[in-house]
Amino acid sequence: MATVTPWEVKGNIDYDKLIKEFGVSKIDQPTLARIQKHTKELHPFLRRSIFFAHRDLNWALDQYEKGNKFFLYTGRSPSGPVHIGHLVPWMFTKWLQDKFDVELYFQFPDEEKFLFKDNLTFVQAQDSLHDNMLDVIACGFNPKKTHFIVDTKHANLMYPEAIKVAKKITFSTVKAAFGLTNEHNIGAIFYTSMQAVPAFLPSVIAKKKIPCLIPHAIDQDPHFRVSRDVIPKLGYDKPASIQCRFLPGLGGMTTDGKMSSSAEHTAIYATDDAKTIKNKINKYAFSGGQATVEEHRKLGGNPDVDIAYQWLMFFEPDDKKLQQIHDDYKSGKLLSGEIKAILIERVQTFLAEHQARRKDAAKMIDQFMLKVK
Ligand code: TRP
Repeated sequence: MATVTPWEVKGNIDYDKLIKEFGVSKIDQPTLARIQKHTKELHPFLRRSIFFAHRDLNWALDQYEKGNKFFLYTGRSPSGPVHIGHLVPWMFTKWLQDKFDVELYFQFPDEEKFLFKDNLTFVQAQDSLHDNMLDVIACGFNPKKTHFIVDTKHANLMYPEAIKVAKKITFSTVKAAFGLTNEHNIGAIFYTSMQAVPAFLPSVIAKKKIPCLIPHAIDQDPHFRVSRDVIPKLGYDKPASIQCRFLPGLGGMTTDGKMSSSAEHTAIYATDDAKTIKNKINKYAFSGGQATVEEHRKLGGNPDVDIAYQWLMFFEPDDKKLQQIHDDYKSGKLLSGEIKAILIERVQTFLAEHQARRKDAAKMIDQFMLKVK
């Protein structure tokens, strides 16, 4: 049994089951074809069903086709270092921003993890905020079209809207949607109203309805399930959303369905150097290979559980290469150490590029901050 809530993800996740439980729609072929009409090629995350579900995506595309461009909204709650799993939805969001040429509002709810984690002080959350912003900027978002919203810094814009959302959500709704209980602090109970606001804040600022599309990892869906009921009551359109599955931790699909920042051995951080990447993957990546070389040659490996292969689905963009790796691993031609070596090279290159952009990011923070005239 797996648990998937915005604050806890564990176990072996069955994504088809989640689609039913959450009530999201699977991204089907006609929808993919429709996206491709605008983007020319499909992002590997779409081709491989890493982004696998949505709400009202076709409505957002209808609007786009009528010349009513949507804006994108996503976010990161600062609580510790960014790992490569966090980068997955952001890489895709950047692609959407470039292909559709749209604005992005990126929320940093710097109160969220402070409210939900017993051992995180507000000062620590602020340190993470700065650090995490560097990683977001390093993803390469367009500084002219990307706007950071920091809940406690933009309180003047956020709070008047959050109270309107909060007034329409009862405690019992929050309990049911998030599993919160009487023992939770009242800040935690209020929090979802803050995460709802950026989905319509641009409409408030522009004084007209602008469609919103939210790319996010599937665990965040309960927030938007609740806010989609409320936002129309405030006079704005329901936001559309598109959901991705998680990059598993190094420990394997069954134990580490989602990479966790606090599990140092099973996460690769955005700032890990080449040597650390190599050591962690070699030492901790769960292998779908056989116990001995002879057995492996005879029986082959299992790419479905092999973390090196699973990660290559995220980090090897070339479909042909990926298929070859898959087939060679399955047939026993490619050994466990060899598939890991391929992955190590991919992740090292990917993060070296990320880190190069991250170096120059601090001086860009101010440029990214939402400013309202
Ligand atoms: N709650 C998210 C987190 O824990 C942060 C977040 C805020 C977010 N707004 C969002 C994520 C919108 C996706 C989409 O990191």
